Formats: sequence, structure tokens, C-alpha cells
Amino acid sequence: MNKPSETANRVAFCRAWESQKPPEARLCYDPIAVHMLRDEVKPFVLTPEGREFFLRKMAKPYVLGILDYIPLRTQVIDGHLRDCLAKGLRQLVILGAGYDSRAYRLAELQENVKIIEVDAAGTQEDKKAKLTVQFGQLPTQVTFVALDLGKDDLAANLNQAGFDSSLSTLFIWEGVTYFLDAQAVDHTLDYISAHTPAGSSIVFDYVRPEVVDGSTRNPAMQSMMEFCAEIGEPYRFGLEPRQVERFLNQRGFQDVVNLTVAECLDKYLTPAHGPRKPMPEYGIAWASVA
Ligand SMILES: C[S@@+](CC[C@H](N)C(=O)[O-])C[C@H]1O[C@@H](n2cnc3c(N)ncnc32)[C@H](O)[C@@H]1O
Repeated sequence: MNKPSETANRVAFCRAWESQKPPEARLCYDPIAVHMLRDEVKPFVLTPEGREFFLRKMAKPYVLGILDYIPLRTQVIDGHLRDCLAKGLRQLVILGAGYDSRAYRLAELQENVKIIEVDAAGTQEDKKAKLTVQFGQLPTQVTFVALDLGKDDLAANLNQAGFDSSLSTLFIWEGVTYFLDAQAVDHTLDYISAHTPAGSSIVFDYVRPEVVDGSTRNPAMQSMMEFCAEIGEPYRFGLEPRQVERFLNQRGFQDVVNLTVAECLDKYLTPAHGPRKPMPEYGIAWASVA
């Protein structure tokens, strides 16, 4: 993958979109996301006319579902990250980082936490160029590792980047599992459970298997699958929500928390957020290394 990921771009768009809302109405706040967008896209986020045009002409049902799902997912994962920080997190690895801006927007991460971002080379190079423009230089608090999670040796690459297997570590795997095959998912989880101390953790989201095998009855999700296939980023891996705990236990993890989208809404949505209709086919889970 040498081109920047289009799905990573769209995820940044969703966070940038959400971040323009008033504080009480937004599910996440990512002021850096808009700077990760292509220049021609920025007006759709930043100007009232652009936002109105986007909603009227470009926002198909699956786009609206994703506009509501991504900020919710980011909020849930930020919550888990903050819990880990309160328990003494010392290292953060962001797998398939895309335009994730946690390393640059969360003050709590700037002290005492070693941060490594892992992504395919094309997306990572594009992000580094945009970060350099935004901050006047490439931020120094992050070590960047370019690799293919389906092909390259995660252990060797992280070792080279100074990954410390004695430190309490969180792996964030946001919006990535479904783009990998089952073997790459297994290899990644095996690596984490074998190379981090007990109590380290992973947080990720996943999609139900019927989305991947094409049997979903949700037309919005069908359109979304067609779009992802067209742009060369098809969904490949799904998990049945009832199997998530056993799946993780079998791979060396315990204390599994597994939330449906409806449960995430119950936890985070207030009346001020307005009505939200995120895609219900996703789930978000976290677990500790046993
Ligand atoms: C939907 S984006 C999510 C980006 C980011 N985690 C976020 O939530 O903003 C998917 C990301 O997974 C990365 N990705 C997909 N397949 C990958 C692979 N085989 N190896 C490394 N990264 C991969 C893409 O480059 C992209 O950055």
C-alpha cells in the first residue's frame, strides 16, 4: 500500500466534522484532524455552506452512519486510554495509526509515555508531511514504523524502533482489524500477548462476520462494503460479538470488555449530542494481557 489510505482519510474527515460542533454536542474533539485532510476537502468541514452542501449532496446513508460511528469509537478508545494512563501506562503503540492524532492532542501523553505509530508506508509518509506543515517540524515525541501488518515482522520492526517489552503498554488498533486477514490478526495478537508484561492491554474495534461475507441485510452497510472494495480497501475479517471474549482468552488475554454500538451510545450519549445513528454492525473491545 503505497498510496495514502482513503479510509484513513475518511476517518479523519469524520473526526474533523465532529470537532466543529459546539463542545456539549460533540462526541470527540480532534482539532488536528482537519489539518490531515486534502485542501479541497477542508471547506466541507469548515464552512457552513460546505457542511450544508455535504449533507445535501454527498452524505449517503452509510456516510451518515460512519459520521456518527467514528467519533463514538474515538471517544470510547480515548476513555480506555485515559484509564490506562491513570494506572501508570508507560508505552503506547498505535497500530494502523492513519491520521490518529492522540500523540499530538492529548497532553497526558506527553510525559513519561513512549509512543510508536505503526502504519503502511504510504499513509505514514503523507501524515508525516502534513504534521510537518502543521507543527513546523515533525513532532519528536513519536517513533514512526512503516510496515505491512499482513507481511512484515512486527517484532523485528518494533525492536528496531526501541519498543521496550518490560513497560506497561497499550496497543490501540482502531479501525484496522477488518482490513486484515485472520492470520495477520492472529499474528498481531500473539505478538502482543508474548511481548508485553501482564496488565498491558489492547483496544480495538471489529465488525460482525455477516458484513464481511456479504450476508448483511443493512443496505447502508452493503453500500459501505461496495465503496471499500472499489477503493481497494475491502473488509476481510469479522468477529461474532458473542465469540469475542473466548477469541481473546484463547490468544492470551483476560478481563475482556466488549461493547456493542448500542452499549457505547448508552455509556456516552447525552441529549445534547442530538440523535445519532452509528452503524450497529461494529463492536469495540479491550482486554488485558494475562
Ligand atoms: C480506517 S483507517 C483507520 C486509521 C486510524 N486508526 C484511525 O482510526 O484514524 C485504516 C488504517 O489501517 C491501515 N492498514 C490497513 N491495512 C494495513 C496493513 N496490512 N498494515 C499496516 N497498516 C494497515 C491503513 O493504512 C489505515 O491507516
